[in-house]
Amino acid sequence: MAEERVVLTTVDGGVATVTINRPDKLNALNAAVRTQFVAALNALREDPDVRVVVVTGAGEKAFVAGADIAEFEGRTAVDQFRVMKAYGVFEAAASFPRPIIAAINGFCLGGGCELAMACDIRIASEKAKLGQPEVKLGILPGGGGTQRLPRLVGFGTAAKLLFTGDMVDAREALRIGLVDEVVAPEALADRVRELAGAIAAMSPVALQLIKEALMASQRMPLDEGMRLETTLFGLAFASDDKEEGVKAFLEKRPAKFTGR
Ligand code: COA
Repeated sequence: MAEERVVLTTVDGGVATVTINRPDKLNALNAAVRTQFVAALNALREDPDVRVVVVTGAGEKAFVAGADIAEFEGRTAVDQFRVMKAYGVFEAAASFPRPIIAAINGFCLGGGCELAMACDIRIASEKAKLGQPEVKLGILPGGGGTQRLPRLVGFGTAAKLLFTGDMVDAREALRIGLVDEVVAPEALADRVRELAGAIAAMSPVALQLIKEALMASQRMPLDEGMRLETTLFGLAFASDDKEEGVKAFLEKRPAKFTGR
């Protein structure tokens, strides 16, 4: 029997949308979602026509309500360790070489919040609710929650969210820096498409180099990051896109980037 499709990919004008599709379980990350999500991102990595990826959840209610808790019951430590090592959902998003946007359409909890934080930009619907409720289950975040949350919102705010497991609404998430924009639920898809489209029109070479430098800023001391940026800046001058971008500016016309 064919495996159920719990991750759907569509591509339109250089923008790929990856939808986690288990709405009856609030798109919780089970083994099938993890496998298919990583496979979907790996396939998109290989497709140079895909310039931006959007990750979202199916249905009205949830982005992703976390790891599938039903899979936790009775699982041994060794089994859980293997699961964590096997799938690499968060790493697949965090290491994606081109811009990746989370369109947060509802509950964004636990592994869902960690997946959103592994993306570059988070746009939330007004009805989104975000949090790391693992503490309530007697566990801790395992997909980067204790590492990415303090980097985004600061230590104390992260500690408060992680220690209490409390959810925040989209406005509060915007205030603390957990999301970057909040829009009406009915405007979310259009706004994300507009943003992704604007990014997709930019030079793929420049985007990739910017992303490389941006990701390095999260792990490197300032002086090393500055050195890397200088090197990447030089590298950009080896591209056709740089010639085209500069020429188009001087000729007062829109640039046509090829990604070479
Ligand atoms: N894992 C497995 N199933 C989940 C799930 C999860 N993380 N989150 C929701 N579901 C399932 C529910 O069990 C329910 O299934 P059922 O209809 O077969 O009983 C379905 O999704 C709908 O969820 P429900 O709890 O009925 O919706 P609600 O609106 O009452 O509550 C939440 C929504 C998000 C507050 C609640 O589902 C919740 O707390 N989920 C768990 C969040 C969490 O702890 N995530 C971190 C996991 S490490």
